[in-house]
Amino acid sequence: MAKLNILEHPDPRLREPSAPVETFDQALRTLLDDMIETLRATSAIGLAAPQVDVRRRIVVCRTDPAREPRVFINPEITGSSRPAYIEEQCLSVPGEKGLVMRPTRVSVRAHDAEGVRFHDKLEDLDAVCLHHEVDHLDGTLFIDRFSLWQRLGRTAGRLLGRRPAPSP
Ligand code: NI
Repeated sequence: MAKLNILEHPDPRLREPSAPVETFDQALRTLLDDMIETLRATSAIGLAAPQVDVRRRIVVCRTDPAREPRVFINPEITGSSRPAYIEEQCLSVPGEKGLVMRPTRVSVRAHDAEGVRFHDKLEDLDAVCLHHEVDHLDGTLFIDRFSLWQRLGRTAGRLLGRRPAPSP
């Protein structure tokens, strides 16, 4: 297993959409092992393959360090609750933190590491994590979900030469 390098904003590779996984082979299992090791070495709860420079639709979530990380391959969110404000950070946007709207309940359809399809319903942090990571697969970062007010605050902070803590 190997720890992988994490791409950071504004790297344009984070903005490219990821392609579905079609082959469930040893190379995929090795990538999953490496993604899990990379995630475990951080305080983050989720990691998407494009963050480690692999443009494939692969997500790993670890919302509870006491449990095994969960793998979602080709995840599709098929239903979601009304969104709520959640404070987020992202390994690919170091130093940024802010409130974004996320559903706190989602239905997901995905493949597991062996290519078997499954459905699940996720709640709370699990739902938020999956939604954030699926955004990565589409080239979206959490800072894209900031309100106009938060964006103005960030721009003002940059003009003043500091990094503001965004507020809603
Ligand atoms: Ni992220």
